[in-house]
Amino acid sequence: MEEGKGDRQGEAIPAKFWSRRFELFSRFHEGVRLDAESWYSVTPEPIARRVAERMSAGLGASAGWLWLDAFCGAGGNAIQLAANDPHGVVVGVDIDPHKVELARHNARLYGVEGRIQFVIGDFTALAPRLRAHAVHLSPPWGGCHHRRVKEFDLTRMRVLGSQCDGMSLFDLALTISPSIAYYLPAHTWRAQLESLTWKHPSQRSELQEFMRRDGRRDRVHVIAAFFDAKPSSWLLAHSLGVSTRKVRMPSVPNHPAVM
Ligand SMILES: C[S@@+](CC[C@H](N)C(=O)[O-])C[C@H]1O[C@@H](n2cnc3c(N)ncnc32)[C@H](O)[C@@H]1O
Repeated sequence: MEEGKGDRQGEAIPAKFWSRRFELFSRFHEGVRLDAESWYSVTPEPIARRVAERMSAGLGASAGWLWLDAFCGAGGNAIQLAANDPHGVVVGVDIDPHKVELARHNARLYGVEGRIQFVIGDFTALAPRLRAHAVHLSPPWGGCHHRRVKEFDLTRMRVLGSQCDGMSLFDLALTISPSIAYYLPAHTWRAQLESLTWKHPSQRSELQEFMRRDGRRDRVHVIAAFFDAKPSSWLLAHSLGVSTRKVRMPSVPNHPAVM
């Protein structure tokens, strides 16, 4: 493949997404594969890396943790979880076999395929049989339509093949581990994040708001809520409930081949 052109795989990709391809995957030019849905649903690499680092910090040093990426899609988070923990193992679950095929291919490009065990299936059905030290949740938000509502309501969010909503997904994750990261739209109803926090044994969560420059001002682009078995000293210094941090999205230089 010609370097810098990536692989459009015959699909019409909106220019907005195509121009961000190296933000989605810094190694895009090496042959990363995405399907139409993944172009807008994959976690951009700088965020996925930061989420993986934050999840690792929440667990502490180890000879290798077992991570669960419950909605692994094309592999954005699973790859970074594996890359960030060279002795760890990641279980990546997705209900769509094609997504798993893409994730496996992309993981191979990043050299972490051997440490990700992919499972095709409905996370809500598989959950009772899954074990992990930490769980990453990035369920579908309902396509681009989720932006039409003023506040994103977790009780209205549905995953494929299940009646489970965004609140009960958290309950399911809690049956696996108290260490959870939940990746959500910027306009997620904050009162619901508070309710999730009260369900958690620590009664605390760290909400990271990823800020993106929009014209002349910064605005929240996406958020990730972190729940830890042992909250950090930073979190303990705050009162119970949700503590918020603003995080500037790391800028991604254009790949040299496309400048
Ligand atoms: C937002 S995408 C995840 C993107 C992923 N974090 C990445 O960076 O590539 C949500 C994924 O959840 C999957 N999904 C939907 N319902 C599911 C279910 N019940 N169990 C497992 N996966 C499901 C979809 O197929 C989709 O790939």
